[in-house]
Amino acid sequence: MRTAAIALAIVAVLALIPVLINLQTTSSQANEEASPIAGAPQAGAEGAVGADGQAQGQAQNGAAAGDIGTVTEVDKKFLTSVRQAGLWEIPAGRLAQTNASSEAVKRAGHHLIDGHAKLDQLVREDAKLLGVQIPDQATAEQQEWVRQLKAAKGAEFDKLFANVLRASHGKIFAVIGEVRASTQNDLIRRHARQANQTVLDHMEVLEDTGLVDAETFAEVEAAVTK
Ligand SMILES: [Fe+2]
Repeated sequence: MRTAAIALAIVAVLALIPVLINLQTTSSQANEEASPIAGAPQAGAEGAVGADGQAQGQAQNGAAAGDIGTVTEVDKKFLTSVRQAGLWEIPAGRLAQTNASSEAVKRAGHHLIDGHAKLDQLVREDAKLLGVQIPDQATAEQQEWVRQLKAAKGAEFDKLFANVLRASHGKIFAVIGEVRASTQNDLIRRHARQANQTVLDHMEVLEDTGLVDAETFAEVEAAVTK
C-alpha cells in the first residue's frame, strides 16, 4: 500500500513536468515579446505628438539624426521654390473662392491654401535651421499669373486656374523627386517628402476639375523630359 502511494506520487510529479516546462517557455516568450515594447522610446515620443503630428511623424520617417549641415545649391534652390510656391498659390487659392464658378476649382483652391499654409511654415522653420535665406516674394512669372487670375471670372477663371496651376505643379513635382532621391541633407530629405505629398495632392485636385487641357500635359512633358 505504501509502495503504491509512493509510485502514485512519482507518476503525479512526472505528469507535472511537461506542464511546468510549458509554463516556463510561455513565460520567457512573454518576456521576450514585452521587452522591446517597454524599451522603445519612440513609442512614447509618437504618443506625445500634438496638433502638428503630421510634420513630426514625417521627421521620424524621413530624418533621423544625421547630416543637416551640408546644404547644396540644389537644396537652397529647392527651399526657395517651395517658399515661392506658397507665396503665389495661397493668393490663387483665395481668388478661386471669389472668382471661380466651378465647385471643383473652389475645392482645389482650398487644398492650395491649406497645403501651402502648412508647407510655408515648415519651409520657414527649415530654412532658419539650415541658415538659408528664402525670398519674401513670388517670381515675376508667378506674380503675373496672380494678376491674370485676378482679372478673370467664372468659366474663364476656372480654365486658367486649372491649367496654369497644373502646369507649374507638374514641373516642380519632377524637381522634388530629384531632390528627394539625391540630397545628402536629412532635413531637406524630410522637407522633400512633405512637399512631394502636398504637390501630389494639388495635382490631383486640379485634375479632378476636369479642366486640364492636353496641351498643358504636353507642356509639362516637354519641360521635364528635356
Ligand atoms: Fe501647390
